[in-house]
Amino acid sequence: METNAEKAIPLGARVVKVVGRKILDSRGNPTVEVDIWAKSEDGREGFGRAAAPSGASRGKHEVVAFPEGGVEESLAMVEELGKKLVGTELDQKSIDRFCWEFDGTPDLHRVGGNAVVAISMAAAKAAANVSNLPLYRYLGGENAVRLPYPLGNVLGGGAHAGASAPDIQEFLVLPVGAKRIVEAVFANARVHRRVKELIPAKDKNFTGGKGDEGAWAPNLGNRDALEVVSEACEDVSDEIGFEVRPALDVAASSLFDGSEGKYVYDREGKRLDTGEQVEFILDLVDSYKLAYVEDPVQEEDFDSFAELTRKVGDRCLICGDDLFVTNPERIRKGIEVGAANAVLIKPNQIGTLTDTFEAVNLSKGSNRVPVMSHRSGETPDETIAHLAVGYGCPIIKTGAVGGERIAKLNELIRIEEELGDRGRMGEIWCK
Ligand code: PGA
Ligand code: ZN
Repeated sequence: METNAEKAIPLGARVVKVVGRKILDSRGNPTVEVDIWAKSEDGREGFGRAAAPSGASRGKHEVVAFPEGGVEESLAMVEELGKKLVGTELDQKSIDRFCWEFDGTPDLHRVGGNAVVAISMAAAKAAANVSNLPLYRYLGGENAVRLPYPLGNVLGGGAHAGASAPDIQEFLVLPVGAKRIVEAVFANARVHRRVKELIPAKDKNFTGGKGDEGAWAPNLGNRDALEVVSEACEDVSDEIGFEVRPALDVAASSLFDGSEGKYVYDREGKRLDTGEQVEFILDLVDSYKLAYVEDPVQEEDFDSFAELTRKVGDRCLICGDDLFVTNPERIRKGIEVGAANAVLIKPNQIGTLTDTFEAVNLSKGSNRVPVMSHRSGETPDETIAHLAVGYGCPIIKTGAVGGERIAKLNELIRIEEELGDRGRMGEIWCK
């Protein structure tokens, strides 16, 4: 599928002005926001604004988020780059290519991947605005009518919470039986609330603390946490009449001690070799009927990803985040060896929308589910909601509660309303 942006619809629009600024992210850290103004030959004006998110458990092969001098240095580069963009055609591919050329490094460490992704997304939004179309429609055309299933983080630990929280980073839920996004989003919020009610039976001192993405961060081991989430899913499924299933992001690269070749579960005092880690995951998938497991093994282990996909891929999505880092080259390698049946799509891991779109298409073309995703550090920027619909991603991972998470979820509700009768949920191929 080609998007309008891919086809570079002759908008006849040119960039008028580019402004970058430092803004807060949800962790209180600085990040980059970019505004782009454009104007078409017949005088139509367009404006696009986009902000970059930031990760805490970043993959080794991601582009570099900020140059050594941090956000300030990145902004100085945006100013320079922006001046060069003024007067050029508002065409996604050319703007993205120009960003790569201007940066001149293979991992965008001169300008910073975060600034580049903000420019790239702001350009797409400005182009949609000149065309007088919502972004999802501009990107995906008439066919962009499918809403993604929201994958919501309800309990967490790892790099997103304190030491006494579980070693596994995210305990997620996927409302696979929902018929509409509005039902799906509220189902996840309900599980989030139910999890809070169930935690005190296992963690008496729970004070309601949360991790970076708004998921509860109790003092629990992995299995106890999974018991809680699984029970909450069952309770809520019974109440609302459709199935919500548990899921995980193990973020196994954060647990992996490369020198020993072991997965270190600090909280539980456990060290697993690769074979034991794979067995552990296989057991969890079937014991808890997991719908989805992200990064079950570390980011270089394509073979274990392939083994897990072979063994449980008919009933569970095995998703690569740090493994693929939204990088078409790494996705191609995964395709060759049969690793994973889902691919996490984080635009700021690869830098531009052109690359992101290629990653989505490679995933789809190889029957892998593209999962559009937020980062743990976010802003109220809602762009990924539009990217999920515009690019036809059947799942979006963007938390369950919290202002910067609901910015995306609420935007999806608005898109569903706008689509009316034409809107439907996406297809999760391994439902
Ligand atoms: P992040 O990771 O903290 O790097 O955004 C979230 C994830 O692992 O999906
Ligand atoms: Zn992840």
